[in-house]
Amino acid sequence: MESSAAEKVTDQIVDILKQQVKLNPTQIRDALGTPPTAELGDYAFGCFTLAKEWRKSPTAIAQELTKRLRPESYIKKIENAGPYINFTVDREKFTPLVLREVFSRGDSYGNCDVGAGKTVVVDFSSPNIAKPFGVGHLRSTVIGNSICRLYRCLGYTCIGINHLGDWGTQFGKLIAAYKRWGKEGQLKAEPVRQLYSLYVKFHAEAQKEKSLEKEAREWFRRLEAGEREAIRLWRWFREISLKEFQRIYDILDIHFDSYAGESFYNSMLAETIEEVKAAGFAQESQGALIVDLERFGIPPCLLRKSDGSTLYATRDIAAAIYRFNTYRFDKMIYVVGADQRLHFQQVFKVLELLGYPWADALVHVPFGLVRFGNGKMSTRKGNVVFLEEVFQRAVELTEKIIEEKNPELQDRREVATQVGVGAIVFNDLSTKRMKDVDFSWDRMLNFNGQTGPYVQYTYARFSSVLRKYGRQVEDNVNFSLLNSTMETRVVKLLSRFPEVVKRAANEYEPSVVATYLLDLCEASNQFYNHFRVLSEDLETTKARVLLVWCIKTVLGKGLKVLGMKAPERM
Ligand code: ARG
Repeated sequence: MESSAAEKVTDQIVDILKQQVKLNPTQIRDALGTPPTAELGDYAFGCFTLAKEWRKSPTAIAQELTKRLRPESYIKKIENAGPYINFTVDREKFTPLVLREVFSRGDSYGNCDVGAGKTVVVDFSSPNIAKPFGVGHLRSTVIGNSICRLYRCLGYTCIGINHLGDWGTQFGKLIAAYKRWGKEGQLKAEPVRQLYSLYVKFHAEAQKEKSLEKEAREWFRRLEAGEREAIRLWRWFREISLKEFQRIYDILDIHFDSYAGESFYNSMLAETIEEVKAAGFAQESQGALIVDLERFGIPPCLLRKSDGSTLYATRDIAAAIYRFNTYRFDKMIYVVGADQRLHFQQVFKVLELLGYPWADALVHVPFGLVRFGNGKMSTRKGNVVFLEEVFQRAVELTEKIIEEKNPELQDRREVATQVGVGAIVFNDLSTKRMKDVDFSWDRMLNFNGQTGPYVQYTYARFSSVLRKYGRQVEDNVNFSLLNSTMETRVVKLLSRFPEVVKRAANEYEPSVVATYLLDLCEASNQFYNHFRVLSEDLETTKARVLLVWCIKTVLGKGLKVLGMKAPERM
């Protein structure tokens, strides 16, 4: 695939520099940054890494080197500033290069083929059956979805797996609770809510009545033994919960390639345990089977409890082996909250001990909590927010705002859904992954803030300009009419998009894209507020319309990468 405009420019800088310095292209690229102001130039090369070899101060090196360098092709000016060498691109060449690239690639702008022929598996969302789909799972869902989309942009085949929490001791508790207090009719009407209140009730009652825990363990044992009644209830709970989760995935328009959850691996667990034993790593400890990981400074990994039941970790070990055999992945990413860091350390370590060379292709991508101003929410105590209600509320609030702003809008409900849901998604993804997400309606629905609605609104605004223009957009325009600082700023941002996608994927950090979109909106709105796009002057109009088309395309693609909709009108 041809390199992007921005790559062509950095390649050029590398070419210019490598004749004079003993650094390889990667080292040169790593030393390239952006000067503090656009007047100083577009790229800055810091001479710090050369100090040792040249036995001079970086400032002296920068001075000397600058004298030896000659601008060519896309580079117009090379100047020295302190320890830096600043490169200014030739706008006359750069602007057409960028805009023609965006124009010809359209929606595929930002894609590349570094991942061609490779597969990544992304394990994300993975809610627990019979528990409400919580905000933590929402984070995993939107981050994981965006990571899938980012990797697809890089040419990877991406397999999204929903590792449903559909097995484990909680089912013993649920069955026990259902047997005591459950009503079939209620459960059918509001499955997750009812199952959840059974779960909460179980924990409250178990405080008073010790025998309940025993009852639950007994039911889970029966379940693991495949006894009919236990299996029947489990299957039913699973099915009705999944149906409810499906509604949330539909709202978000998210799809999975596989719903193989924890129960899927049941038949493989005995073999997995045998494998660990045969490799000589399993060890009995107070009746339980563990892998001692002390020499790695990690607490032991529990494979089987003393009552014979298997565990979360065992299922993850079996799942990883199964997935490698099935998908031959080059990388597997687990998008799971930071509180499970230790679990993944243990699982990855056991797989490494078993000698799987792909164990180092496993990545845990953790994330912070969602805060509603009153701390983390726990499923056991019952102070949980039901996600569907959160979405409904977002849509209602958005609909009111749109009603005021644009009473004439035709499919208001649909647009409000796209924007309301998008506001929640963007609020999550614009926060750096490891930071806690702050959940405030006012903030995330502010159409002028650093929000999803703001980006979507900007997209709709440029769409409307193109509708008004009403003619075919073309890329043979007079590019010298786009030479103002504001326009150049937009062009430069547009040129950065492919690199932004790459960085976001490499760092598993969709916030890189979200932040970029906010910058692009800001620069584009500034351009739009300052210049009339559609005017009497045909030549200027044609040039500005091309710029608008490119902005719209990149904003639309960026929203898509985040898993959001791009409404044409709003
Ligand atoms: N169901 C788990 C939970 O809610 C998350 C599963 C993550 N994926 C995995 N392969 N362990 O805590």
